Amino acid sequence: MKRLLVANAKGGSGKTTLATNLAGLLAARGVRTVLADLDRQRSSVRWLERRPAGFPRIAGWTPEDPADVLKSFNPQWAIYDSPAGLRGDKLEAAVKRVDLVVVPIVPSVFDMDATVDFLEMLAEQKTVRKGESAIVLVANRVDARTLAAQELESFLAAWDLPVIAHLHAAQIYVHCAASGSSLSDLPRSRAEPEIDRFEPIRHWLSRHV
Ligand SMILES: Nc1ncnc2c1ncn2[C@@H]1O[C@H](COP(=O)(O)OP(=O)(O)O)[C@@H](O)[C@H]1O
Ligand SMILES: [Mg+2]
Repeated sequence: MKRLLVANAKGGSGKTTLATNLAGLLAARGVRTVLADLDRQRSSVRWLERRPAGFPRIAGWTPEDPADVLKSFNPQWAIYDSPAGLRGDKLEAAVKRVDLVVVPIVPSVFDMDATVDFLEMLAEQKTVRKGESAIVLVANRVDARTLAAQELESFLAAWDLPVIAHLHAAQIYVHCAASGSSLSDLPRSRAEPEIDRFEPIRHWLSRHV
């Protein structure tokens, strides 16, 4: 099983948005996927509860569930959504169990400040130092016309880490959050143009399948 953690110590950076869309993307391609929710707010679990029955199945898991609860589902991928403020032992435990870490970052100076600390903490993790867990960045809630978006670009360029996508600020994510859906569950005409902005993520994921 491949494991991917979506993390950033900053709340509201788009962790749950990204985790649910990643899970939806994999499930839409017939990949047996579990969405594991490490956040006590349980936003991902609630999203799964809202998910319409006919949509590609995504299994849910929380740390309160027995570890073997997923055995019968035999997942090929696990997407871990994580809480704000992830640091110390909890960060170490979360990073240790995954192959890939995706860090969403929104264009705001407060978010970028908080993300500096977070990326530095990530870089110190043993599995990251040994090259066993790869870190990539996703720009989220970008509005290309703004100064904040330009500042985010300079920020992203300063790290020696791949920036795999630029997702825009778009109401479709709010709709998906409320309806238990992901971009991959919607007709292309509804999900455009964000579905195209998500495409590099699909491409990057397919290299790790
Ligand atoms: N690209 C985006 N465009 C519009 N709204 C977004 C986008 N990404 C996230 N949001 C909204 O912002 C809020 C915070 O996002 P969320 O994914 O819950 O962040 P986190 O899990 O990091 O706290 C949610 O209401 C979500 O629907
Ligand atoms: Mg969240």
